[in-house]
Formats: sequence, structure tokens, C-alpha cells
Amino acid sequence: MRAVVVTPREQGSGRLTEVPDPQPQPGEVLVRVREVGLDGTDVEILEGQYGEAPPGDDYLIIGHESLGQVQEVTAGAEGLSPGDWVVAIVRRPDPLPCRNCAADEWDMCLNGQYTERGIKGRHGFLAEFYVEAPKFLVRVAEGLLPVAVLLEPLSIVEKAVEQIKRIQSRMVWQPQRAMVLGAGPIGLLAGMVLRLENIEVHVYNRSEQKIKRDVTESIGANYICAEEHSFDHELEREIGPLDIIVEATGFSPLAFDAMDMIGPNGIVCLTGVSGGSRTLQIPADHLNLEMVLMNKVVFGTVNANRRHFEAGVRHLQEIEARWPGVLSRMITRRYPIERFTDALQRSSQDIKRVVEIAFPGTQEQKRE
Ligand code: BGC
Ligand code: ZN
Repeated sequence: MRAVVVTPREQGSGRLTEVPDPQPQPGEVLVRVREVGLDGTDVEILEGQYGEAPPGDDYLIIGHESLGQVQEVTAGAEGLSPGDWVVAIVRRPDPLPCRNCAADEWDMCLNGQYTERGIKGRHGFLAEFYVEAPKFLVRVAEGLLPVAVLLEPLSIVEKAVEQIKRIQSRMVWQPQRAMVLGAGPIGLLAGMVLRLENIEVHVYNRSEQKIKRDVTESIGANYICAEEHSFDHELEREIGPLDIIVEATGFSPLAFDAMDMIGPNGIVCLTGVSGGSRTLQIPADHLNLEMVLMNKVVFGTVNANRRHFEAGVRHLQEIEARWPGVLSRMITRRYPIERFTDALQRSSQDIKRVVEIAFPGTQEQKRE
């Protein structure tokens, strides 16, 4: 079959090539891939900064934001039938599971021995087919097909918001106002999930980008552009105290600004990956004092488990119902697999770029 692969840690090694067809083992299903979303992690892998091939292979099939259709079901694969549409969960527990992996909370793995499809030690989904056990596949209704490729990034947001709520259950908590830093897919999806709860949402983005402002305003949130407002206490005086800040840019200095900007009893959630080695001078006494005297929390979050994907499916439906069309507008471009390199060129007019794999019209069509 055709697949987009890299030689891990080798810059610019991304290529479309032939690889052996995956064979489903008993208990697994064969999935035909329809499309795959790309994100910053894929860019890092293609630039050779990240990524790990499966044991015994010298290449890694990339792609972790998937949407596909079950093609074959083997004996022992319960709960799925040919024709079902599925999104795959990314992370797999470590071989000798730590206590979190053993409890299916692989997103909280303690020892770093977990694997991630398309990222770390396991092939991904930017190929014609993959095989997987039903435990790691989440079914989506046919009505969600145009937007279901957003489920994986949404699962990251679901985990973040679930933890915000759990941590804040330390008190009587009635959040009024949230700020999302960064209007990429994670920032905008976080804005949507918070808006579903009728929290006032401000999306702070580095520049004026029409599509991002449009999506923000469509969900009844406020778009703030860094070119006009710096992220400081004057902005806070204008909009009021912040109960939640979700950092989704990966620009690490903003994480420290957020600790200063968050309101009393508030919570800062860090989701951005910063691959660099930036250093910073910070007002340490001031930050520490404010954190203590105002019961502030800062936490980081990565990945998601099955519960978060399932919450995401429900939210995709709710978002579609409340703001019809807004999710589709986030998918700004689709490219055929032959043009996957074009799909990696990011522009300010884009939110999510997706690569499509030629999909036969008939569901019955089998592999050659
Ligand atoms: C993926 C996560 C993954 C993380 C770190 C993100 O792009 O969405 O599932 O855990 O990268 O590898
Ligand atoms: Zn683990």
C-alpha cells in the first residue's frame, strides 16, 4: 500500500512510498483510511526533531489525526462491523504497564515507555490502511464525517477541560471568563467546549487572521489580536478577571505571563509543546507570591484516553447543533496524498490542513 513515511531524526526525509500491507491479527480490524489531519507534531517529525520508528523498522508511517472505515473484522474483534467509521486513539500503554497504563489511563503514563501511533515507536495512519484492536478505535456517526478528523485534536481539549474541572472541584467554582492563547485548532476547539458551557471566552492570537476571527466570533467569543493589545494587566482591567487560561501556542514566555494574569483561584492549563531552548528572566518573587496568596493553579496536559475521545464525539455533535458549519470551516484545506508536502506549508489563512487518501466510492471494495 502507499504511505507517507519518514526516516526518524532525518530532516526532510518525508516521502510517499510503497510499504507492506498490514495484516489484521485475530482480535484486530482492518481500517481503510479516508483522511488524516496534520499538526505541529507532524511538522517536527518531518523536520527530524521528533519521532521514533517501530522496533525492527527503519521508517515511520506518520499521521495521528485519522478518520477511516472498518473494512474487515477478524474473529475476536468485538463491537465493530465493516462499514463503521472510526477514529483511532493515538497512545498505547507501555509493554510492562505502569499503574496508570494498567488502568487504561495511558495518557498519564508514568515511565515514558508508552508508544504513540505515527509519532513514537508505532506506525501512524497516513497510509491506505492500518490495523487496530477495537479498544483503540472510537466509532463516529456518518453525519459527523465531514468534521470527524477533528476528533483527535478535540480529545486533547477534552482531557484539558476535564482536568480543569476536576482540579477546580477543590472549591465552589463558577467560572465566568476564560482566555485561550492561540487560535490554532486546539485553541479554537477549547473555546468551543468552554462556550458550550456558556463561559465568556476571549481568544488571544498573535495577529489578525480573518478565518480565525470568523470562527471565534461565530461561537460568540471575542477575538483579541496581539498586535493591538499586549497580554498584560491593562487587558485584564478591560475584560475582567480570568478564571481559566488555556495556553495553546507553545510560546513558552506566555506560560509565565499567564501565571501572572490568571485571576483569584484561577487555573492555567498548558497544552503547547515548545521544542526550543529559550531562557527567560521572570519576576519570581512576584509570581510565587501571587500564586500562593490567590490559590492559583498551573498544570500541563498531553494526549488523551478513550474517555476523552468519547466526550469529543458528543461535543462534535453539540458544536454542530449549536453553531452549524463552524467545524467544517476549521478544515481550511484538503490535499490529495500525492501533495502531502504542500499540506505541510502553513499559512495564516489556515486552521487545519488535511490529507485525503483516495477512497473508493463503494464500501464493499476490497484491497487488491
Ligand atoms: C498528539 C498527542 C501526543 C503528543 C505528543 C500531539 O500532537 O496529538 O496525542 O501525545 O503530540 O507526542
Ligand atoms: Zn505507563
